[in-house]
Amino acid sequence: DLPPRVTIYEVGARDGLQNEKGVVPTDVKAQFVRRLVAAGLQTIETTSFVSPRWVPQLADATELLADLGEVGRGPLRPVLVPNERGLERALEAGVGAVAIFGSATETFAQKNLGRSREESVEMFKPVVKRAQDAGLWVRAYVSMCFGDPWEGPVPVGQVADACAELMDLGCDQLSIGDTIGTGTAGHVEALLAELGRRDIGVERIGVHFHDTYGQALANTLTALRAGVSVVDASTGGLGGCPYAKSATGNLATEDLVWMLDGAGVETGVDLDALVETSVWMAEQLGKPSPSRVVKALAGA
Ligand code: HMG
Ligand code: MG
Repeated sequence: DLPPRVTIYEVGARDGLQNEKGVVPTDVKAQFVRRLVAAGLQTIETTSFVSPRWVPQLADATELLADLGEVGRGPLRPVLVPNERGLERALEAGVGAVAIFGSATETFAQKNLGRSREESVEMFKPVVKRAQDAGLWVRAYVSMCFGDPWEGPVPVGQVADACAELMDLGCDQLSIGDTIGTGTAGHVEALLAELGRRDIGVERIGVHFHDTYGQALANTLTALRAGVSVVDASTGGLGGCPYAKSATGNLATEDLVWMLDGAGVETGVDLDALVETSVWMAEQLGKPSPSRVVKALAGA
């Protein structure tokens, strides 16, 4: 059985644009977010308050949120925050929700955060505490939940340990990241079952699939059948992670909406408006969307 309604957690403006070679102008990002809102998306991650030296593509986070005004505020507009410096910048910008982002593997913790898994949990602790004291909603991402480009397949127990460490800090939601897209359906079932045994139930879990191996939609359907109802996706299939070689775009929001519309699952999203947005964004970026549904519907 599928849930009657799925919450799409849109990451195109963050996960998508962080991985573009060129820096997208702030006003184009703001227009992108406004178009996503107009297309009916509710939860929209807008940007990251990370080190501008690590991710220059999102160095304009403060300017973007100033441009967005009320549209960038509230519990449905999370931003990525790695440390207290990031949290302070995010609070100054008026955000209502933040996401910390840990790793299931040591190698990726070093590559993405410049520190060990343990040191990164120490870095996140005061971020979560201060965010919650400020009344913010807090999400915890865990990357490399299925495979890691340096370490290979990641044992389910190790992944569950990393997830539990972050959820024990008191985060509201966990997002399990298949950063490089190697996961398959059976693996998704096994990880969700293991998380359930650790008392992290499906009602607190979102799934974050990258489509590198074309498995994202099958993995999503598997997670939905297991009771998950929050799915991360990126409009037009934009995305990747600059610190994870071989990561491509996320599951395209259009591909997800096509599947859910077909199954009668409610999302609130107007697919035509979303496809128009992807076509517009593709023009801005000077390259076509990799989404099959965008290609089919836009005739591109
Ligand atoms: P560090 O180099 O250890 O930190 O970076 P540092 O404290 O030594 O600072 C380095 C410089 O950055 C300093 O500036 C700091 O002031 C500054 P300098 O003195 O050299 O001019 N700095 C900051 N500036 C603004 N905002 C901040 C901030 N922090 C430090 N928040 C750090 C540590 C964690 C900051 C760094 O490693 C970093 O920013 N990493 C982020 C990498 C990233 O954003 N990766 C992509 C997101 S994760 C992802 O995509 C996966 C996901 O989609 C799920 C999945 O697919 O699996 C979520
Ligand atoms: Mg990602």
